[in-house]
Amino acid sequence: MVIKTAEFVKSSGKWQECPEGTIPEYAFIGRSNVGKSSLINGMLNRKDLAKTSGTPGKTQLINHFIINENWYLTDLPGYGYAKVSKVMRRDFEKLINNYILNRNNLVNLFVLVDSRHSPQSIDLEFIQWCGESGVPFSIVFTKADKLKPNVLIKNVEDYKAELHKTWEDLPEIYVTSGEKKTGTEEILSFIQKTNEF
Ligand code: GTP
Ligand code: MG
Repeated sequence: MVIKTAEFVKSSGKWQECPEGTIPEYAFIGRSNVGKSSLINGMLNRKDLAKTSGTPGKTQLINHFIINENWYLTDLPGYGYAKVSKVMRRDFEKLINNYILNRNNLVNLFVLVDSRHSPQSIDLEFIQWCGESGVPFSIVFTKADKLKPNVLIKNVEDYKAELHKTWEDLPEIYVTSGEKKTGTEEILSFIQKTNEF
């Protein structure tokens, strides 16, 4: 997909405040520091469309961008940030869960996980919730350039094995690097294929 235009639309603190869902939408989520902004920017070929915040986990806003004037890319706040209060975490969760479950034009949720780490319970729990809730989602491994190819392959296989403990069928998996812009074309092709109502 050629990215002709990519524009920020708005930040919303509640799912009800999001722009009207009249066009297909694709959302990106993952723990803070997973490489979400870098992946979005790399994929769209923009330097700093999705801003990297100096204080991770502080921004509890849903950010909408409109791409090629015909689909929304949504940057969701990171889940499971440890350094905020329990109440803030619950508010976070509510915002994210409500958005995901109520956003009728959401075609797919891309769940980002850091390819360097073994499966983390916070990610597994979120993936579990997506599966149980019937949310259409894919798993995106980030920062692939930081690993040697054989280690990368092993980590992805280990992750799949962990998921297979619960699920027979696994979602689509992408292995990416926002830095090196690898795997981004695959994500865009998927979006291209599916972004018609
Ligand atoms: P928050 O918005 O703060 O939650 O973080 P984020 O998930 O948007 O992560 P961000 O893209 O800001 O990246 C976090 C750190 O990881 C930065 O120092 C990036 O330079 C680094 N990083 C992100 N993606 C990659 C990647 O693909 N390769 C490498 N080598 N570093 C990356
Ligand atoms: Mg970010």
